[in-house]
Amino acid sequence: MAVLVVFLVLLLTKPGFSQSNNRDSDANDLIGMFCGRNAVISQTNFDKNRNSTFNELRVQLLNQRLLYARAQALSAGDSVFAAVQCRNYLSTDQCMACFDASVSKLLNCTSGNGAYISFDNCSVRYEDFVDFYNNPYVMEDGNGTPLLSCGNQSASQPTIFNQGVDGFLSDIRDATPKTSNFYVASTRQITSDNATVYVTAQCAQGINQGICQTCMNTAYDKLNDCLPNTKGSFFDMGCFARYSDTPFFNVNQTTDVTNVLKGHSSKVPIIAAAVGGVVLICLILLSWLLYRSWKKSKKNEQEFEGAVHYNYKELQEATNNFSEENILGRGGFGEVFKAVLDDNNVVAVKKLLVQHAGAKEEFENEVKLISNVHHRNLLRLLGWSIEESYLLLVLEYMPNGSLDRFLWGTKRGTLNWNQRYEIIFGIARGLAHLHEEFHVKIVHRDIKSSNILLNDDFKPKIADFGLARFQPEDQTHVSTKFAGTLGYTAPEYALHGVLSEKVDTYSFGIVILEIISGRKSTEVKSDSEYTDYLLENTWKLYEKKTHIKVIDETLNLNRYEEEHVAKIIEIALLCTQSPASIRPTMPEVVLMLQEGQSLGKRQLTRPTFVNNKDRRIYIGSSRPKDIQLSNKEP
Ligand SMILES: *[C@@H]1O[C@H](CO)[C@@H](O)[C@H](O)[C@H]1NC(C)=O
Ligand SMILES: *[C@@H]1O[C@H](CO)[C@@H](O)[C@H](O)[C@H]1NC(C)=O
Ligand SMILES: *[C@@H]1O[C@H](CO)[C@@H](O)[C@H](O)[C@H]1NC(C)=O
Ligand SMILES: *[C@@H]1O[C@H](CO)[C@@H](O)[C@H](O)[C@H]1NC(C)=O
Ligand SMILES: *[C@@H]1O[C@H](CO)[C@@H](O)[C@H](O)[C@H]1NC(C)=O
Ligand SMILES: *[C@@H]1O[C@H](CO)[C@@H](O)[C@H](O)[C@H]1NC(C)=O
Repeated sequence: MAVLVVFLVLLLTKPGFSQSNNRDSDANDLIGMFCGRNAVISQTNFDKNRNSTFNELRVQLLNQRLLYARAQALSAGDSVFAAVQCRNYLSTDQCMACFDASVSKLLNCTSGNGAYISFDNCSVRYEDFVDFYNNPYVMEDGNGTPLLSCGNQSASQPTIFNQGVDGFLSDIRDATPKTSNFYVASTRQITSDNATVYVTAQCAQGINQGICQTCMNTAYDKLNDCLPNTKGSFFDMGCFARYSDTPFFNVNQTTDVTNVLKGHSSKVPIIAAAVGGVVLICLILLSWLLYRSWKKSKKNEQEFEGAVHYNYKELQEATNNFSEENILGRGGFGEVFKAVLDDNNVVAVKKLLVQHAGAKEEFENEVKLISNVHHRNLLRLLGWSIEESYLLLVLEYMPNGSLDRFLWGTKRGTLNWNQRYEIIFGIARGLAHLHEEFHVKIVHRDIKSSNILLNDDFKPKIADFGLARFQPEDQTHVSTKFAGTLGYTAPEYALHGVLSEKVDTYSFGIVILEIISGRKSTEVKSDSEYTDYLLENTWKLYEKKTHIKVIDETLNLNRYEEEHVAKIIEIALLCTQSPASIRPTMPEVVLMLQEGQSLGKRQLTRPTFVNNKDRRIYIGSSRPKDIQLSNKEP
């Protein structure tokens, strides 16, 4: 199994690639564009927000004479986040012209949750999530590919041109991430051919040096494919790079690449005349950056697609020696600590105690797998560490904590229906991604409200996917031996250990009911109207067509909203039916939620109710080994 996982990861992680060799003369200097394909909740609301971010970006560029701007619009639930980046050698007017050209093309993306476009002069991107500012490779649909556009004229002396430009581009690749603003513009005389070659490169503002370097490596590789043509432009979400034998910036606008490569201060021409003190500060800053990059490069030796290997000591320090005050939560898998890393980034560190032999290897394989999972509704794995019997996972830190706090915990009653609906929708999309969109099918097996974390925006991120098999094995109470939680686990899995992705559909149905009712699935109150578990209670109300009674009384809903909630309750009941085969798949659930219609031709059947005493305790052998991993293309 472990071998299979490694194989799949190796086989399937290279991104696709699109190339256009012929420039479309209509397209001016368009390198390419990509329209997202995932649906939003309401296209009208999304478009309104998109229009307003475009307007705001334009105002910023114009009024503040900027070459980079960000804007966001969050009204009515369909948030839009956008950014524009112009090349540093341009004037504001040139930047505006490029921005306007981008917008008129982007308006052509009439559905979908995001898009990006790049011209030689600027790049524009918008998404319905904020994470891409710092991590440009977070993409929902995963279909964005690097864009390349090559000229159609070959150099007169191809061999010499190729050699010269290759060396030049490799210097640019190395220098760009080392500059303080991730930007270079430079010229070089290609010997014995009179050609002067102009090159510029720019990483997305807000990203870190590692991502910039990775993107520049790709840029270098791909631009080489354009040679011996006299022009080439590359864009990927992390960076832009371009070479040409015709000038596209002034010679007084160049960066001193040689000095950057030697480790000296980068000289941006506009500030070249600045006093010596500034140079000194730059030098100190640069050596600090270089020191950090040296430390990072040591760290990155064992990098898996963005997840970084950390020293145990480093994480020990970052969590104040795993102190009690730093504990964010405790779960079936171990404790979670708040940690402040060297670079002042706040992260969460999950500490797992694993004792069985072979756990390390399994863990590494699992880390490889889950570090490739990028989706805005799935908690990102940032790094990991292994030390003796401790396995540490470095994860995104979610300041708002878990969903259960907002349902029946300290923050009870603070989420309105719109926010709750977005949470339901987000969880559904995250699960659909795990089941169907990622190249390996991952069954979570432990979906519950305390595993759903909320970001600043109250958007949900699912935690703990891919970890089910690392539950501690030799606890005295045997019921922890199966991966699942009372009240959330599908009957066929709880009773017979039968596992499929429909196990998650079931748990998701339970979570919907918890979100709507503000009630814990296993809570019963003998002195009130609900003497049954939440699911049974809801079903009984549904049979009497009074299921809106289950709605949390802290939600003040109007009639229209009540009708909407009633439909969502029906979707939840559809998800919790048995046998598993009649439950919808998660992509089907996403569709139903979107369309606000639930049953269609389907007939709801009574769920199977499982009591704690019915529950089979031992599942299979001593340890759950049945995590479902299968290559979806047979
Ligand atoms: C190259 O492209 C330009 C337009 O960008 C066009 O005018 C020209 O004819 C093309 N040349 C060849 C050889 O295809
Ligand atoms: C957004 O702007 C475009 C172009 O100005 C316009 O055609 C469209 O109707 C606008 N959409 C909304 C929802 O405001
Ligand atoms: C807009 O999209 C349509 C089809 O999707 C395409 O035919 C058309 O050329 C596009 N227009 C622009 C300006 O890109
Ligand atoms: C290079 O330029 C010189 C004069 O500037 C000219 O004599 C020579 O022919 C040129 N060589 C090529 C290969 O274009
Ligand atoms: C891009 O900027 C250059 C100046 O560097 C300008 O001459 C050119 O017209 C611009 N292209 C577009 C499409 O705006
Ligand atoms: C660069 O040169 C152009 C003309 O070649 C000039 O207009 C411009 O002011 C110069 N810029 C700087 C910063 O020296």
